[in-house]
Amino acid sequence: MANRETVLNALESVQDPELHQSIVALNMVRQVAVEGSRVAIDIALTVAGCPLHQQIRRDVETVVGQLDGVEQISVNLGVMNEEERRTAFSRAFQTSQANRAQAAAAAPQKTSARPSGPAIGPLPGQAPPQGMMADTDDTVVLGIASGKGGVGKSTVTANLAVALTRLGARVGVMDMDIYGFSQGRMFGASGQAQANEQEKIIPWSVHGVSLVSMGMFVPEDQAIVWRGPMLGKMLQQFFSDVAWPALDYLLIDLPPGTGDVALDIAQKVRKAKLILVTTPQPVATHVAQRAADVAKRAGQEIVGVIENMSFVRLPTGDTVEVFGAGGGAALAQDLRVPFLGQIPLESIVREGGDQGQPVVVISPESEAAQAFDRMAALIRQEAGR
Ligand SMILES: Nc1ncnc2c1ncn2[C@@H]1O[C@H](COP(=O)(O)OP(=O)(O)O)[C@@H](O)[C@H]1O
Ligand SMILES: [Mg+2]
Repeated sequence: MANRETVLNALESVQDPELHQSIVALNMVRQVAVEGSRVAIDIALTVAGCPLHQQIRRDVETVVGQLDGVEQISVNLGVMNEEERRTAFSRAFQTSQANRAQAAAAAPQKTSARPSGPAIGPLPGQAPPQGMMADTDDTVVLGIASGKGGVGKSTVTANLAVALTRLGARVGVMDMDIYGFSQGRMFGASGQAQANEQEKIIPWSVHGVSLVSMGMFVPEDQAIVWRGPMLGKMLQQFFSDVAWPALDYLLIDLPPGTGDVALDIAQKVRKAKLILVTTPQPVATHVAQRAADVAKRAGQEIVGVIENMSFVRLPTGDTVEVFGAGGGAALAQDLRVPFLGQIPLESIVREGGDQGQPVVVISPESEAAQAFDRMAALIRQEAGR
């Protein structure tokens, strides 16, 4: 006969499809009741409307159904509150770190797989230009890139930055989208750049994030024509002339396209990795693919793909795929990199951006904010720190 212990043991083998860890270890199993041949299990999902909930239900039914004497299973799916979700994610993160450390200890000779093709960055072992972030520095540098503008790159940058701080990380944002710098507006930060005693620029500090933007030097609506050398100089300054605090992550909001800045960054910060943002339709993914090609040639690792504006959730719970479907996942598959997930189209996302309150701040319970939280946790797993 099955009992609570045997059921819990069986549930150990069911993994959360996104976090790749046991639902028991993640505290997702709320309650197990066994009455004769009937088993009732309450599971708390990490987010409401988790697209993978059917898979979790199926897996639970399969493993418990294999136990002796079980004839009827009812699985109740609920949702974690924010506190529980944070605990689950930080637990998942710690376990993955521990697993990784174990794997590294077991295979000390393992060489990292770098994309092939002509290298554009400095050669391995070559010192980065003075004042740049050294490869030995612990900060994880993530460029947020997209083939074209308007796909939500800046929105993703701002929300991921805040979501990462909520996981306990120290985070900086560098607004390098010199054609349309918008991080000041997204974070609700304004005012001229201030320098400290060493003549270094003091970053804005908002929503727990350290931020530098061109907006500190010129008003947002002022048109500037940037030429290559000026751009390179700007980038250099944002690295070397800013009084950055110690950071776990530095997120760089890149200009759209495959242009100079991405290559400059590849050259100057060899360890910089890329996150690609796309909308679901093929035209958007094609241009994102080109950005990825450049990154690969530059020897930059791509952490994963984020699909934005994936669907509108109706009050009935159904979704409408305004911009088509499947582009993000297909792009990730093409590039053989992780698909980090989908962000719904929600008006609160735009409103938050316009008001200087990223959606993860203004509406943490919204589906979009929860998607950002999950992505931040995945990025910690993939890009580590
Ligand atoms: N998921 C979303 N739901 C609703 N509006 C969004 C979403 N993502 C971005 N937006 C809005 O779309 C516009 C373009 O986004 P933005 O982040 O500035 O794009 P990019 O930096 O790629 O040009 C902004 O007004 C932003 O608030
Ligand atoms: Mg932008």
